[in-house]
This record gives sequence, structure tokens and C-alpha cells, in this order.
Amino acid sequence: MSRYPALRLRRTRATAWSRRLHAETVLTPADLIWPLFICEGQGVEEPITALPGVSRWSVDTIVARAREARDLGIACIALFPNTPPTLRTDDGREALNADNLVCRAIRALKAAVPDIGVLTDVALDPYTIHGHDGLLDPAGYVVNDATADMLVRQALNQAAAGADIIAPSDMMDGRVGLIRAALEAAGHVNVQVMAYAAKYASGFYGPFRDAVGSRGLLKGDKQTYQMDPANAEEALREVALDLAEGADSVMVKPGLPYLDIVVRVKAAFQVPVFAYQVSGEYAMIEAAVAAGAAERDTMVLETLMAFKRAGCSGVLTYHALHAAKLLAR
Ligand code: PBG
Repeated sequence: MSRYPALRLRRTRATAWSRRLHAETVLTPADLIWPLFICEGQGVEEPITALPGVSRWSVDTIVARAREARDLGIACIALFPNTPPTLRTDDGREALNADNLVCRAIRALKAAVPDIGVLTDVALDPYTIHGHDGLLDPAGYVVNDATADMLVRQALNQAAAGADIIAPSDMMDGRVGLIRAALEAAGHVNVQVMAYAAKYASGFYGPFRDAVGSRGLLKGDKQTYQMDPANAEEALREVALDLAEGADSVMVKPGLPYLDIVVRVKAAFQVPVFAYQVSGEYAMIEAAVAAGAAERDTMVLETLMAFKRAGCSGVLTYHALHAAKLLAR
């Protein structure tokens, strides 16, 4: 084996061109999915206190955001509605309304910016008065099968409006297969399913719940349906099931604290894996920047590169637009 001084690993790091030449991983705007929050109204931009730098946009203003993202090469946007409180019910039936916020946004986006992907979240939490992703029984338990029936109808509603990727984030058992079958039966053969396959019951979702207006409403936690952070083998079982049920791609969520799961999923299945760098992760970076403890641009690009290095095809991140601008330089 060749040793120092013949071998100097610093040699290839000595210049910028050489570092570029030897990079094992690349990050491009096409690796990014940008989550956007939608609200009612006209011409609205509503800053979200818990997510400094992130806003809710009305349907008309979100179209401009999508155009900006498309022009920077971002592949896809993900939509999350802040449903007016008066439309939230026990059963979340507003999710099935063909004219709900998300459906109106999808139609506006597909008409104005057809060449960016539109991903929509399937789960009832933006529509329920209790903030849970599904239907509750009298004891407050989220019932699986009746919830899955609602999710199928929600997915069909989004597909009919023009969604490109249906992303169930609810963690009910069996819902991917039911959604896939319903999409096929309705002729939506090219609508993709990206399964939130390994989604953990996490403390990192707080700012998101503020953004969609469910934080104050949520009774208890989501530990009876989202995964235990202690478990990794169980994540592989979740992924195996969602793939067998017809998922086109799978997601791990949250992101950085679960990179080990990304690596294991990629090694076990060789399928497209995505990670969600969630709201609490975004807020941590912004808090560190605000405290003068770190530099935003470096942290943003370094964390996104980490997802690519771990094996992700792409990343959902609230820093997508900022990252795309940095990458364009
Ligand atoms: C809801 C959903 C959540 C997120 C995406 N979809 C929150 C939750 O499960 O409570 C979190 C995203 C984020 O924190 O950025 N089904």
C-alpha cells in the first residue's frame, strides 16, 4: 500500500477546479421539491412567524412563486393548504371538495406553469378540527380503514384537479395500494404515488403545524400511526409494503436525523428515495443564523448535499428557492 509522502489525499483538494473534478456527489435545482403553503384571498403573502422567510400565498400569488421556481430549474412544488377554521370538521370532508384551496391551486398552477411538477399531500390534518390525519373513534383513536377510504377519495379529488404526484403522509396501513387501484380505475395511470413510507412521530413538525393552522387544534400526539424514532427495521418493512402496493417512490421523514434510514432503504431496495428536510430542521438553521452561530448559505448547501450523498434522488426543503439561486451562481 502506498503511503505518505507518495500518497497525499490533500493533493486533489488543493484547487477549486480539482475539488469540482473529484466531487462524488452533485446537487442541482432538479433535485429539489419546494413545499408551499396556500391560503385564501387575493394578492396575499402572509409570513409565518414559526418559519422565518416562509409565507402562505393565495392561489394567484402562488403561481408567480411556481414560475420563479421553474425558471431556476426546480423540479417540483408541494402544496399544503391552511384551511379556514369554518371549513374544518370532525371528518375533514373539505378534503373531498373539488373546489377546495388545494384543487384551485393545482388548476391555476397547471394552467399557468405546466412544466413544473405538482405534488399534493394526502392526509386529513389540514381539514380536521382535531388536527389528526384521520378519523377518530369515540376513544380518540385514529381508525385505519375508514380513514383510508377518505384518503382514496381525497387522492382522486387531487388527481382530477391535475396533481402529478400524490403523496400520502398519513401512515395508515394499506392506503398506498388502495390509492393506486383507485387511480388506475379512474384512468389516472400516469399520476405517481410518492409514499411517505418511513414517517416518524417527530418533534420537528411544530412550525409546519403552525403553517397549516393545526398546532393549536391537535389533541395528543401522532404516535399511534407515525413511527417510533427508535425503529429502523420497521422502516424497511414500511418501505417494502408501500413498494409492493405500487408506490413509485418512497420518502423518509424527517431528514437529517434519519439519514441512516435513507442509506438503509437505498441499500435494501434500489428505488427512488426522497427525504423531507422538515419545518423544524429549517427553523433550526434559521435560528442558528439569527443567533450568529452559523452561515446560512453553507449550511443549506451542505445539508442538501448530505441527502444526495446518502442516496436521495431529491429533497423536499423550504430552502429550495434559496438553494436554487445559490446553485445558479
Ligand atoms: C401532515 C404532514 C406533516 C408534515 C407534512 N405532512 C405534519 C404532521 O405529520 O404532523 C410535516 C412537514 C414539516 O414539518 O415540514 N400529514
